[in-house]
Amino acid sequence: MSLAKKQYKRVTTNSLIEMKHNGEKISMLTAYDYTMAKIVDSAGIDVILVGDSASNVMAGHETTLPITLDQMIYHASSVVRASLRSLVVVDLPFGSYQSDPKEALRSAIRIMKESGGHAIKVEGGKEIKESIKRILGAGIPVMGHLGLTPQSIYKFGTYSVRAKEEAEAEKLIEDAMLLERLGCFSIVLEKVPAALAKQVAESINIPVIGIGAGNGVDGQVLVTHDMVGMTHEFHPRFLRRYLNLFDDMSNAFKQYSKDVKSKDFPSDKEQY
Ligand code: KIV
Repeated sequence: MSLAKKQYKRVTTNSLIEMKHNGEKISMLTAYDYTMAKIVDSAGIDVILVGDSASNVMAGHETTLPITLDQMIYHASSVVRASLRSLVVVDLPFGSYQSDPKEALRSAIRIMKESGGHAIKVEGGKEIKESIKRILGAGIPVMGHLGLTPQSIYKFGTYSVRAKEEAEAEKLIEDAMLLERLGCFSIVLEKVPAALAKQVAESINIPVIGIGAGNGVDGQVLVTHDMVGMTHEFHPRFLRRYLNLFDDMSNAFKQYSKDVKSKDFPSDKEQY
């Protein structure tokens, strides 16, 4: 099932650029495992992001910093096995690309070879320019990520809206243009004022996919566990919850426990 204007057998980096030029908004959600990725892919979501938010959502860490390259490869390979149509983009984790371009390339190659992912995502602009060039030079598609970049949380100090001041907004626009010039196929823009995000999307030819960046961009991304309400302690303004699975699952587990303890489960029909 897909609501796409044009049917894509497999969404590619070129399809996303085509969607931008056709005025078709891009849908992107996260997945970290086979079962969730199957549901996301079969719902016709254009891009599955194997985000380093797995560090929070899957492993319970406070930040995205602890997740390792091996762990990202494990999550990504499970997602790739499930995906028939969606483009699978995999985050390069903190520490795997910032120190030097050769290491960045080695990390990106490991993701592509060992997980089968279709592209990688990195956080930052000018500071990681050489790493991005190296990775692109090896033929690996790169998605950028600007605005609130959670791998730099200890530099920012908070998860509040970025680029509200003119100097930071100007740097963000310059970084977005640089990422386009380098050859990135798309940019995620996280938690920036809607007017600025719209300006960025209108200034470049590659798609800008927003999270907390308003409706003037070329697509939207959410963390799946947040939008289906499996997580329930996180209430940012930008999050639309489509389900309340924390409560639904919790009620199911309570009912199951009652049924086991009362010997109602299994019934005659549920045994051999
Ligand atoms: O890791 C992630 O899930 C992300 C999205 C929030 C864009 O980078």
